[in-house]
Amino acid sequence: MTVKRVGIVGSGIMGAGIAETAAKAGFEVVLRSRRQETADATLAALEKSLAKQVERGKLSEEDRSATIARVTVTSDLADLAGVDLVIESVVEDLETKKHLFRELDRTVGDGAILATNTSTLPVVELAMETNRPGSVCGIHFFNPAPAMSLVEIVRPLTAAEETIAGARAFAIACGKDPVEVKDQAGFIVNHLLFPYLNNAVRLLEQGVASRDDIDTAMKGGCNFPMGPFALLDLVGLDTSLAILDALYTEFRDPHYAAVPLLRRMVTAGRLGRKSGEGFYEYHRK
Ligand SMILES: NC(=O)c1ccc[n+]([C@@H]2O[C@H](COP(=O)([O-])OP(=O)(O)OC[C@H]3O[C@@H](n4cnc5c(N)ncnc54)[C@H](O)[C@@H]3O)[C@@H](O)[C@H]2O)c1
Repeated sequence: MTVKRVGIVGSGIMGAGIAETAAKAGFEVVLRSRRQETADATLAALEKSLAKQVERGKLSEEDRSATIARVTVTSDLADLAGVDLVIESVVEDLETKKHLFRELDRTVGDGAILATNTSTLPVVELAMETNRPGSVCGIHFFNPAPAMSLVEIVRPLTAAEETIAGARAFAIACGKDPVEVKDQAGFIVNHLLFPYLNNAVRLLEQGVASRDDIDTAMKGGCNFPMGPFALLDLVGLDTSLAILDALYTEFRDPHYAAVPLLRRMVTAGRLGRKSGEGFYEYHRK
């Protein structure tokens, strides 16, 4: 099937980024937030971000106005009825996502692809909540979605060939480089990345080195663009903890058992950039 209209559910870091990516690529986008004020605020933030890109000469005025004209926001899931593809990007919690997939199955037209942007959760569990398991797959973008070139296309046991082909074609049309991966926790990137991030927190907790020295070491020694603590703050510590918990549930490997400091920081509301404080402090604009 050819995707023209895309529904995005969730307007957090990733939902907003995917909406921008898809709208810039020429897709009509309907973004759904639970509250209309949040939906409106997300549209205002997108307008601001696109205006800045015009100022910096990265986007033409014509493309800015065409992109904004392709986006509508709503708090009503029923407004997604006519889309060809839905990408769910709500909180990394299996029960929340299962509930949402049951609702999407009832609301969105037959034949549409229902995709999840989950970082680790089993996609097949979401597929089996619907009456169209063949039309469900993972389309996993990276943060920040407009800038990162990778998309992991996750193939659950239940997915039909045309679903995977449609998801891949969509990612390519968004200017991304898709890779395909089995429906196993962490897929490729997070399977390899999160033991490293978790071990960085362990080193800090053990007092082996300071936050700044660990970040400096991994940038200078491995040529990484940012150190592990800056990256954890960017991803969000709550999302990072949910990813580690899902990996541990799947594999029972101690490398995936979240270091207590990470869990304590989430409990304390230190979620990284999005809350203004994580391993670093951020000044709100
Ligand atoms: N942060 C990252 O780097 C990253 C990267 C790739 C994928 N992801 C995945 O994207 C998804 C969203 O993550 P994010 O980083 O945008 O998180 P976020 O915290 O920025 O946003 C979460 C969104 O979920 C909504 N939400 C919370 N509880 C809900 C509920 N009960 N019902 C419906 N909506 C609810 C929130 O209102 C918000 O819009 C997760 O599945 C995450 O694993 C995150």
